[in-house]
Amino acid sequence: MVDIEQLNPRNEAALRAWWDVGNQANAYRPGKPWPVWEQSRVSLPAHNPERGVTLLAAIDGREMVGAGLLVRPLKENLHTAMAFAYVRPDRTREGIGRRLVRELEVVAAGDGRTTLQGEAYLPPGVSGTAPEAFGRAMGYAVASRESIKELATADYLQRRSGLVERAPVPDGYRVITFDTVCPEEHLASFGRLLGMLMSEVPLGELDLAASDWPPERIREAEQRQVDTGRHVLTAMALAPDGAVAGVSDVRVDDSDTVHGQVGITIVDPAHRGRRLGLALKVATHDLALASYPALESVDTSNAEVNTWMNAVNEALGYRTIETLLELQKKL
Ligand SMILES: CC(C)(COP(=O)(O)OP(=O)(O)OC[C@H]1O[C@@H](n2cnc3c(N)ncnc32)[C@H](O)[C@@H]1OP(=O)(O)O)[C@@H](O)C(=O)NCCC(=O)NCCS
Repeated sequence: MVDIEQLNPRNEAALRAWWDVGNQANAYRPGKPWPVWEQSRVSLPAHNPERGVTLLAAIDGREMVGAGLLVRPLKENLHTAMAFAYVRPDRTREGIGRRLVRELEVVAAGDGRTTLQGEAYLPPGVSGTAPEAFGRAMGYAVASRESIKELATADYLQRRSGLVERAPVPDGYRVITFDTVCPEEHLASFGRLLGMLMSEVPLGELDLAASDWPPERIREAEQRQVDTGRHVLTAMALAPDGAVAGVSDVRVDDSDTVHGQVGITIVDPAHRGRRLGLALKVATHDLALASYPALESVDTSNAEVNTWMNAVNEALGYRTIETLLELQKKL
């Protein structure tokens, strides 16, 4: 008899069991599909001004055999939530995943969420895998296809000088870099650019709306990163008039300085076509490697239709390792 229960992330022993289930359920995937324990231990119980998190556990006797995660955005897109289910590989096809997703949907609906989003990962070019079939069986449609890419930093270093030649900082522009905390004088302009993100990133059918980023919201989000040991290594392009023309970042956690992830990248449409995207990415990867010389890999994901971003990533040396299906269901 398997029970589905909510789990308090401050109960460290229970959180560790939850993390173990997710770790085992993702072990078949390439790259770095699951955070290290120390990162989950710190970040899941910590205050998060941006997102509410609910953890579910599927318990059989004294053993945790399944894990669920519901993430609710708190600042915008209040009609949405993201649902994730993980089942221990020796306990799949028993209906545990289905019960976890049902309960995640109940929690989401109880909070007024009407659009649920999920993710399924597959090897590139392959279809018919368990997560895909499971998503379909749960009533989720494919809303967008992304490719997950990984860069070996050794490959980047080999290509670096050619990239710098191809993408010099354009005349009149400046590129500055910082760790997590944006200089005060650029904060308002940075917020304006962040507000464009949702309308500029290809979202496919995903039902997501744009957001406002006033300075206090940026500062709160930065504080959460600082508090949880996450370094958002940022490069910012400043236009001749001082406006923020583009931004990109690579994130590295104190608990895992061998792997990084790309966070956001955006160039203001008014400043495109000057290779700022490539110049910013070179600046963030340089900063990440200067700060964390042991960094071995960085991962990112982009919509397959995002031709421009894919071209930049290929130039840097990123290689596709997985396909990500963004799933969506209207409750
Ligand atoms: C995807 C996953 C959660 C499914 O968990 P599960 O407990 O095996 O799922 P269930 O037994 O409840 O299956 C529900 C339905 O999904 C479909 N399904 C699940 N696994 C399937 C598979 N391997 N092949 C075909 N259909 C499958 C079936 O329709 C199944 O119903 P049925 O058994 O009555 O035919 C589990 O395989 C897993 O943890 N995978 C790794 C993590 C992951 O990818 N999670 C999803 C992304 S968040």
